[in-house]
Amino acid sequence: MAKVKVGEYREVPEGDMKKFTPKGIPIAVYKLSGQVYATSNICTYDGCFLDENHRMHGYMVECTLHNEQWDIRTGEVVNQPATEKLKAYKAEVVDDDIYVDMI
Ligand code: FES
Repeated sequence: MAKVKVGEYREVPEGDMKKFTPKGIPIAVYKLSGQVYATSNICTYDGCFLDENHRMHGYMVECTLHNEQWDIRTGEVVNQPATEKLKAYKAEVVDDDIYVDMI
């Protein structure tokens, strides 16, 4: 898989995220300061959907069930209990559409 169009830029609220399921893969697309970022939408600690249980702290997304936090730019864990990073995808905007590199 390569670059996939997941939705339109205006669909994602500034400072927050929206879920998309390109090719059936659940991803979360974030918009911060006009830039877009993408990660898996599945919490690595207990498997819940982040779009249903999250709070944003700038570039950190928190799963509100057990307070796990990751950096949305890299997927790295910034607050445990879990130690497994979120899969991060390269995202970009082209002509008001959001593309995510699904490799
Ligand atoms: S299910 Fe996400 S931190 Fe527990």
